[in-house]
Amino acid sequence: MVNNFMQVLANIPWWGWALFILLIIAIRDIFIQRAHTISHNFPIVGHIRYMLESIGPELRQYLVANNREELPFNRIERGWIYASAKRENNYEGFGTDRDIYAQQYIFINNAMIPFKLPDGHPNKTDYAFIPCAKVMGAYHKRKKPYRPKSVINISAMSFGSLSAKAVESMNVGAKKAGAYHNTGEGGLSPYHKNGADVIFHIGTGYFGVRDEEGNFSMEKLRKLVKENPCIKAIEIKLSQGAKPGKGGVLPGKKISKEIAEIRHVPIGQDVLSPPNHAVFNTVSEMVDFIENVANETGLPVGIKAAIGKLDEWKELAKIMKETSKGPDFITVDGGEGGTGAAPPSFADHVSLPWVYGFSDVYRIFKNQDITDHIVFIASGKLGFPARAAMAFSMGADCINVAREAMMSIGCIQAQICHTNRCPAGVATQKKWLQNGIDVPLKSDRLFSYFKTFKKELLEITHACGYEHPCQFTMDDVDVSLGDKNMTQTLAAAHNYNKHKVPFNGMQELKECPYLGGSND
Ligand SMILES: Cc1cc2nc3c(=O)[nH]c(=O)nc-3n(C[C@H](O)[C@H](O)[C@H](O)COP(=O)(O)O)c2cc1C
Repeated sequence: MVNNFMQVLANIPWWGWALFILLIIAIRDIFIQRAHTISHNFPIVGHIRYMLESIGPELRQYLVANNREELPFNRIERGWIYASAKRENNYEGFGTDRDIYAQQYIFINNAMIPFKLPDGHPNKTDYAFIPCAKVMGAYHKRKKPYRPKSVINISAMSFGSLSAKAVESMNVGAKKAGAYHNTGEGGLSPYHKNGADVIFHIGTGYFGVRDEEGNFSMEKLRKLVKENPCIKAIEIKLSQGAKPGKGGVLPGKKISKEIAEIRHVPIGQDVLSPPNHAVFNTVSEMVDFIENVANETGLPVGIKAAIGKLDEWKELAKIMKETSKGPDFITVDGGEGGTGAAPPSFADHVSLPWVYGFSDVYRIFKNQDITDHIVFIASGKLGFPARAAMAFSMGADCINVAREAMMSIGCIQAQICHTNRCPAGVATQKKWLQNGIDVPLKSDRLFSYFKTFKKELLEITHACGYEHPCQFTMDDVDVSLGDKNMTQTLAAAHNYNKHKVPFNGMQELKECPYLGGSND
């Protein structure tokens, strides 16, 4: 009997099995599953639609979209980062493929005679040596002022949103590039401690410096800073461009023993990161908190924010002018900024794009004549030499890059950071996906991207007749207003010109005792 049954099964041809499987799928589609109307109404063929939808971004990215079409980063931009990171040929032939008459297009005004490096100049031997022209914390006389060794640095991205191997690759690469590495909200992990300067980032969850109840603990911060001399400055996050005013929940199932230890949160329980800081409610309370943190740690303290309404910024500038207290640096993040996860309505619409947000805020501090007390840090798709030059001309002193740094270590812009399924192993906690990341190789790629970026930024700087990007003014960059309006300088378009940054040559920056901070 059993033998007969097996005989019948063995005699069924392959297409009979195929029909049988399709029949099972059709029964499941029509009678069992309730989630997909299309599959119910069009059994079997409905699946093709879901398959195409899921691989649509990849198809468009590789086959359909043209070189300049995609967002957030188009193929030319990504290609430039990949080629720079791999030390491949990152030039293009035949001339630009961009519509240089388009509205909002920027033109950098080159000098008739470029800047010539004199003999013995620091850039003769190291063409990627561009330290920050300002010292963080110098004006407020912090105990440990810090001059970043590189004007290009790694923006806040936590261990948790990024994989351990990605964080480690970035830190090792940043060390080689002389860049600082911002920890992001998730606390200081062992992967941040591979030798790069670190900016410790404090979000509303106070991860890594919170007590049992989740309140901010100054004692823990003091201890952390004392035990980790790599921490050169502290950044208090007010908001980020992709989701200003939006807190987050860290689901319990993602909180491994390691993450729980680093963040100082209980294992396996949901943890809330609220929209507001519990330690201050007003601008003047925030200034008091900044001063407390600076006094307790000796480090420069800054704030990071995306820009929208300006009243509180005016209040901050007034308080800073009147009391000579307040942040040592301000990181202005653009609405185009990235995130590990955010609702699209926030990412698309809340907060101003970098150019508008930065010009609004800088102008407020300029009106109070205090821009030279503050190091201005800029982030929001600025990881390219020409855009960085524009940011410097508007008053930025340093550039932070996040997604560009991710791409340099292999991110393919799959845009699924929020799913834990990052195919490049960069934004996932899955071990087998991370295993593809070779830390020595990827750290070298980040280093090469930074090096090429700084080299090209310096070449543009020299082409405009300057020695350091801090010397760019808003009259050096024109922005096209489209059609008959011709072009205007940034100064005319944004109605200010930046305050002149005191700069007496690269050699002086090289000899500065605060270059790279002090560990005393
Ligand atoms: C994966 C990921 C994680 C991020 N995590 C943080 C964070 O913890 N805190 C923060 O202030 N910004 C965070 N950001 C925003 C970046 O620091 C940066 O401000 C923004 O992406 C703009 O820079 P970009 O255009 O170079 O990516 C994150 C961005 C990404 C892509």
